[in-house]
Amino acid sequence: MDVTVDLNVNGRSTTVTTDPDRPLLDVLREDLGLTGTKYGCGEGQCRTCTVLVDGRPVTSCLMTVSRAAGRKIVTIEGLAREGGLHPVQEAFLSEGAMQCGYCVPGMILNAAALLETNPDPSDEQIVEWMNGNLCRCCGYPKIVAAVRRAAAAGALSRRGER
Ligand code: FES
Ligand code: FES
Repeated sequence: MDVTVDLNVNGRSTTVTTDPDRPLLDVLREDLGLTGTKYGCGEGQCRTCTVLVDGRPVTSCLMTVSRAAGRKIVTIEGLAREGGLHPVQEAFLSEGAMQCGYCVPGMILNAAALLETNPDPSDEQIVEWMNGNLCRCCGYPKIVAAVRRAAAAGALSRRGER
C-alpha cells in the first residue's frame, strides 16, 4: 500500500506517494527526475548509486524511501554551492578523472564525504575510503589524483591562499 513520504532532497522539501519499500534510488530517478544518481548493480556492490544522507555516503539502491524520510539527502545535482562547482567536482574536471563518467557522481559524493571528515587524507586513506566505488573504465589513478587535488585545494583555501 502506498504511503506519503516527506523527503528533503538538495535542500528542498518534497513529498512522494509511493510504496514505502521502494529503493530511494528509484524514487530519486523516476519520481523526482534526479537521474544523476546511477543504477549499477542494485545489490550494494558497486556504489554507483551513492548519495549523501545526513552527510554520510549511502547506497541508495539498498535504502528504502521510508528510511530516508525526514533526513537530508544530497545528490550530485545538489552538491554545487553558491553558484559554483564543489571543489571535488572541480578537481575531477581538472584531472580529467572520467571516461564514460557513469561512476563519477557516486565517486564525487563519496570523496566529498571523505574530505568532510578527513580534509587531509593520505593516498592510502583515499584508496581505502574509495575502495568500494567501482569504475568499469578503471580510471582509478586519476580518481585518486582528483581527490588529492581537492584536498590540496581545501588546504590552500583554509590558509587563505586561494
Ligand atoms: S547500484 Fe547501488 S551499490 Fe550498485
Ligand atoms: S569512468 Fe566509466 S565507470 Fe568510471
